[in-house]
Amino acid sequence: MVAKKNLCVLILAAGKGTRMKSPLPKPLHIVCGLPIIAHILKAAQALGPAAIGIVVGHEAQTVVNAIQAGLSQWGITAPVVFVQQTELTGSASAVKAAIPLLQKFETVLVLNGDTPLLKAQSLARMTEVFEQNEAGALVLGVTVPDPSGYGRIIRAEDGSFENIVEDSDADEETKKIAEINSGMYVFNSHSLQTALTQLTPQGPKREYYLTDTLALIKQMNQPVVVFAGRDYQQALGINSKAQLAEAEQIMRDRVAAELMDEGVTLVRPREVYIDPGVKIGTDTRICPGCYICGNTVIGKNCEIEGNVYIKDSVIGDNVTLKMGTYIEESQVEACCQLGPYAHLRPKSVLKKGAKVGNFSEIKKSVIGEGSKVNHLSYIGDTQMGAGVNVGAGTITCNYDGKNKHQTLIGDHVFVGSNVNFVAPVTVHEYAKIGAGSTITKEVPAESLAIARSRQVVLEKKGVKKND
Ligand code: UD1
Ligand code: CA
Repeated sequence: MVAKKNLCVLILAAGKGTRMKSPLPKPLHIVCGLPIIAHILKAAQALGPAAIGIVVGHEAQTVVNAIQAGLSQWGITAPVVFVQQTELTGSASAVKAAIPLLQKFETVLVLNGDTPLLKAQSLARMTEVFEQNEAGALVLGVTVPDPSGYGRIIRAEDGSFENIVEDSDADEETKKIAEINSGMYVFNSHSLQTALTQLTPQGPKREYYLTDTLALIKQMNQPVVVFAGRDYQQALGINSKAQLAEAEQIMRDRVAAELMDEGVTLVRPREVYIDPGVKIGTDTRICPGCYICGNTVIGKNCEIEGNVYIKDSVIGDNVTLKMGTYIEESQVEACCQLGPYAHLRPKSVLKKGAKVGNFSEIKKSVIGEGSKVNHLSYIGDTQMGAGVNVGAGTITCNYDGKNKHQTLIGDHVFVGSNVNFVAPVTVHEYAKIGAGSTITKEVPAESLAIARSRQVVLEKKGVKKND
């Protein structure tokens, strides 16, 4: 293995990404919930390099800010160094801009900044094979069904590496070659630096090609190895919106396959959107149209009906989420039931066996064990005990126009339908609240509070009668 302390990963992310037809810089386009660059950084991090360099140029500040904001969330602990490429004259110019960084390392793994499907295992194998061959350079080559747009790997008669020819410079014969350059390389840092000084501009755009350094290193009588990758999809470079969608589909397929491997039931695997890194227990059944995003963990034996959205949440075992439920930054303990069309906003906690039903919204609240908020309610900034029954249409009036206030509801409180709790307010255990009440004052334990005007019946002639 290449000693980690001598290994630097360099990611090229300065290009204009013209073919994306978007003002958003290419490295920041999203694939399966994360920017393209995040997927590449995560694979690089898995190698344990001593440093990760990122070459930025086009919209540099936007790219740098977005990466810096994401690093800890993506688990990147290796030191990240940003390198500015001032003139966008090709992938070799990008690497050239990073020479002061490369000089500190023996081995450099160079990655294009637009291949989010790359696999950490492949990168590890590449460094191993590089080392075994005492190579000057190694390139990950894959054979693809449609090589158009990619640089073709030209091999000599004995099968050894000869050259890489860019698509724009290839003649008809060369265009038929299906073995392409993935844009992932390992270099002996010194050889790479030497080769960079010998390049001449190429192609219709007069660019300096990184790919030309490999033939130059070969001319220095150093072995140049083509490492043939088995999974060609990992080399998909994103240059257009169509390729972005293709990468998204491939990554979703990978995630679905892994989850099914672990015993998760996906009714129609291609019709769910599950981010990489989401954890789901065995025999949890997920119906079509669900989005399960971010840092989400779901237990086993859950039933998740169609069109459920879950983000950054923890769901226990044996939970039922009925159609249309929406959960964000919340915690749902075992055996809870939600929906159809329930909404948990951030910082909500449902204790074991709680139920939140149709069109109920919960925000920053605890719903105690076995408590029920089944119909058309808004519960915000509330601490609710166990065994509470909340009647239909109950609202916590938590906002006075300036500040938010708390509602405290003790164990086994029974709340009739259409009750307003004007916060701050406390209702103690075993109290009962009459339907239609507007509660503004503390309600003692085991008492009955009714706070509504008496019914008045006006007879036809205007004679008043009390009920
Ligand atoms: C490149 C390779 C090609 C390979 C393909 C794999 C070259 C010359 N060609 O082609 O052989 O098959 O990737 O996907 O490298 N970049 C900079 N600064 C620049 C220009 C580019 O940082 O001045 C970065 C881009 O942001 C990108 C990477 O280099 O991440 C590759 O550039 P791109 O324009 O996408 O190259 P391709 O034409 O796809
Ligand atoms: Ca590309």
